[in-house]
Amino acid sequence: MFYTTDNNSHGLAHDPFKAIVSPRPIAWISTLNEDGSANLAPYSFFNGVNDSPPMVMFASQTQKHGFNTVKDSARNARAQGEFTVNIVGHTLKREMNISTEHFDYGVDEFDKAGLTKMPGQSVACPYVGEAPAALECRTYQVVDLPNGKYELIIGEVTGVHIKDEMLRNGRYDVTLAKHIARLGYRDYAQINEVFELNRPDD
Ligand SMILES: Cc1cc2nc3c(=O)[nH]c(=O)nc-3n(C[C@H](O)[C@H](O)[C@H](O)COP(=O)(O)O)c2cc1C
Repeated sequence: MFYTTDNNSHGLAHDPFKAIVSPRPIAWISTLNEDGSANLAPYSFFNGVNDSPPMVMFASQTQKHGFNTVKDSARNARAQGEFTVNIVGHTLKREMNISTEHFDYGVDEFDKAGLTKMPGQSVACPYVGEAPAALECRTYQVVDLPNGKYELIIGEVTGVHIKDEMLRNGRYDVTLAKHIARLGYRDYAQINEVFELNRPDD
């Protein structure tokens, strides 16, 4: 099949786009609200965009509670100029799902999900103590995407936390961390297996 995206003429019950662009890693974005309280929410329009300097991005839909309002993570990353990406391992999926609920601004999702707030080292926002790894970031740029429906927040990584037990033979081992990823619909995947492929010019 082929369809054009101007009128999404796929004829399917659900838009397949997110299933096609998958798996997407899940970033738990932690930020500080204006009153200094913490905010936490999962984002799967997230990825690394550069490794030197290390940079990441997440995209936030400017809609909350059915209104055209910027979500708290994007609002805080823009206003405070920093955010932290917390990687979600499979043991944290329940907490991740709790923290996606649309709570009012100022509600601390760390508390709602029963997660440990650890003090940031290079940024003021806390990170998730249970996360296998966390990337502290300084907001580099915010880009408005077409239709005003999404904004892209780009951050430069200023500090990296890794749980010691996620390191094996000097490598960060994703099979220990068992990262989970977002697919389409309500589907998720978990990394259990890794294969290595050398490049022809290695
Ligand atoms: C696995 C997962 C991935 C998500 N990815 C995104 C995303 O990429 N962009 C987005 O705007 N919302 C995404 N959401 C929804 C937000 O987590 C949700 O709207 C949350 O309430 C936003 O919280 P905030 O206002 O504190 O930022 C995702 C939810 C889940 C469960």
